[in-house]
Amino acid sequence: MRFPWKAEYSVGIQVIDQQHRHFLEIADYAHRRSRSFFVSKKEVGSVIAELTEYILNHLATEEKYFKEFNYESFDPENDRLHVKAHDIFRQDMEQYLTKVKDPGTNIKKLARDISDFTGGWLIGHILTMDKKYAPFLLSRGLK
Ligand SMILES: [Fe+2]
Repeated sequence: MRFPWKAEYSVGIQVIDQQHRHFLEIADYAHRRSRSFFVSKKEVGSVIAELTEYILNHLATEEKYFKEFNYESFDPENDRLHVKAHDIFRQDMEQYLTKVKDPGTNIKKLARDISDFTGGWLIGHILTMDKKYAPFLLSRGLK
């Protein structure tokens, strides 16, 4: 799946938008590389590793801001739901990563599955949950 950036994905905070944008590029890249006959399994494995590391770091960045600006005291419900959504996503990623280690796995297909899953998840997550914290972080001075 291709994940072109759209203006509607912007939450108006530079650091977050950059991470979201860059992640969608990696997901796109992983998809394209995994379709190439000339790309080795090892290379596909390292693209998956890059993709995973980047998205997990991104979730940690958001959670760091929640803590730093005490989102919990401002909107406890959405703070809780948001971190929970990240936790569920992290569990899903762990299942994918278990498959990476399995020698019987079709690694190229797995790369496409991970790319589609993470890219699709991120877009849905931005449009629903990330949009909810944006006004709060902006009000605390993030740009
Ligand atoms: Fe998030």
